[in-house]
Amino acid sequence: MQIVRDIDSLRETVAALRADGGRIALVPTMGALHAGHMALVAEARRRADHVVASIFVNPRQFGANEDLSTYPRREATDAGMLDEVGCALLWAPDAPAMYPEGYATNVGVGGVSDGLDGAARPGHFDGVATIVLKLFNQVQPDLAVFGEKDYQQLAVIRRMVRDLDLPIEIVAVPTQRDADGLALSSRNFYLGEEERRAARALPRALGEAAGAMQRGTPPAEAIAAAGDKLVKAGFEPADYIELRDAATLVPLASLDRPARLLAAARIGTTRLIDNLAVEPDPQIM
Ligand code: PAF
Repeated sequence: MQIVRDIDSLRETVAALRADGGRIALVPTMGALHAGHMALVAEARRRADHVVASIFVNPRQFGANEDLSTYPRREATDAGMLDEVGCALLWAPDAPAMYPEGYATNVGVGGVSDGLDGAARPGHFDGVATIVLKLFNQVQPDLAVFGEKDYQQLAVIRRMVRDLDLPIEIVAVPTQRDADGLALSSRNFYLGEEERRAARALPRALGEAAGAMQRGTPPAEAIAAAGDKLVKAGFEPADYIELRDAATLVPLASLDRPARLLAAARIGTTRLIDNLAVEPDPQIM
């Protein structure tokens, strides 16, 4: 696997892959790779002839009080993992290569960026949309693979691709979970032993709320119960637990269409997010 760090080398290497024929898939990441990322790469390998992965800890998607400086960085290990699974190219620029002196352009995606993490982390999705559009322009892949774990991010990227007529297929991969249900995340590295044990309350509370809604419990009631369970397990009161339309992310007061239950909550200093599909029961609707 080749590792490139400047845009000219990237363009040259991608051109060589393209000359080879076949489809190119991009898997954008911020590194600290785990089995969740490797599932994205595996899906990319199934669907394309050449896989390009990127590692860039994007400063523009971190708020002033967030974990940019402590975000786990371990490029050598990441590169080894990508090489082993047949990734053709690792694009690993530094911040000045991505945002040279005088950089001034911002990409904002309205609607789907509002609320949820968009409200809890102002500017976050502008940072994500900006870097993802740059990565798309740099690599010009045929398809790009993202995880459903960051469900609002996926919706933002899908909307940007549709609105800007980008000729890139967006492929979503279901959230990968540990045996106790906790969604795999680079931020799980921050959890102490006791926090890690308590963190499984998040998928459990969401699963129970989703089940209750499917059996006819009003969403507000099921969501309140989930919030209480999280606090009992040791989480801070949740930033949000919300039922949204699965496609548009419009807030839902009742489970009358395919929906997504999304949550963010902090345990100790670590902020975890998760989400689950909630399908209405046709016999209850
Ligand atoms: O999901 C991530 O790791 C990041 O938000 C992404 C898509 C690589 C953009 O920096």
